[in-house]
Amino acid sequence: MNKNIFSLKGKVIVVTGASGLLGREHCDAIASSGGTPILLDLNQSVINVQIEQIKEKYGIDARGYSVNITDEDEIEKNCQVIVKDFGKIDGLVNNAANNPKVENSSEKNFSRLENFPTSIWDQDLAVGLKGSFLCAKHYGFVISNNKNGGTIINISSDLGLIAPDQRLYKVEGLSEDQQPVKPVTYSVVKSGMIGLTRYLSTYWAEKNVRCNTICPGGVENNQNQDFINEVVKRIPLNRMALKHEYQGLLVFLLSNASSYINGATIAADGGRSSW
Ligand SMILES: NC(=O)c1ccc[n+]([C@@H]2O[C@H](COP(=O)([O-])OP(=O)(O)OC[C@H]3O[C@@H](n4cnc5c(N)ncnc54)[C@H](O)[C@@H]3O)[C@@H](O)[C@H]2O)c1
Repeated sequence: MNKNIFSLKGKVIVVTGASGLLGREHCDAIASSGGTPILLDLNQSVINVQIEQIKEKYGIDARGYSVNITDEDEIEKNCQVIVKDFGKIDGLVNNAANNPKVENSSEKNFSRLENFPTSIWDQDLAVGLKGSFLCAKHYGFVISNNKNGGTIINISSDLGLIAPDQRLYKVEGLSEDQQPVKPVTYSVVKSGMIGLTRYLSTYWAEKNVRCNTICPGGVENNQNQDFINEVVKRIPLNRMALKHEYQGLLVFLLSNASSYINGATIAADGGRSSW
């Protein structure tokens, strides 16, 4: 086998939510595989620090921009800047989403369906779904103009495949109507990403644009120990993920090693969705 099939050398790859917990890992994976990550997030000074670190570590021409992915004008302008600078885009990772950490929240019932504000529904869908659609519309279209196509990866979740087990978020001593829950928008957005993948995997298929979904399981990241003890009982591998454990799959799906994988939804969840 030619080991170079995993290489991202020469590929320009846009990552949304690039300054977040997993976005940083995605950018590091792309850079370490020879690709050029284009970082999109909200805070330019945070992005600038990140870019310097990537340049220093990998000696590559990474770029990063403050782009609110719910704003089509900002995306359109940014897309033009990238095309002017690099002449092309090869990949898009739709990673940004509102990711409420219910397990660490001190607010008692902010997310319960009966109380859930339509304003938060709108915000969550705007970032997770509308933002991913707009990025596909603009960056994806640029990808579709390449002679050899490219790849789009939509980041869903194990909770795109299964319902949240609300018992995990229970706080002792609170009445039923005060218990925190994982909000409805998370399930809707993460399921929607799988639908978006199916649509995109056929839409530009003749132009060799492949689109796949990664469904990561929860990453261990300072959650309280009671929550961790409970959640691992639902995961066959008996542990939460480490934040770097999606890097291999991401590189694989962005690279030529996955040249015949299109429209797939791949769980990387320690087996949680098998139970
Ligand atoms: N962390 C986990 O355990 C986990 C598990 C399964 C799936 N996921 C998914 O992985 C993805 C990344 O998760 P994370 O934990 O790194 O989240 P995170 O909250 O750490 O990062 C999300 C990033 O998106 C950015 N963002 C938010 N709104 C934006 C907008 N309008 N425009 C541009 N950027 C915006 C934020 O500034 C933030 O840096 C999400 O889609 C999440 O649902 C995460």
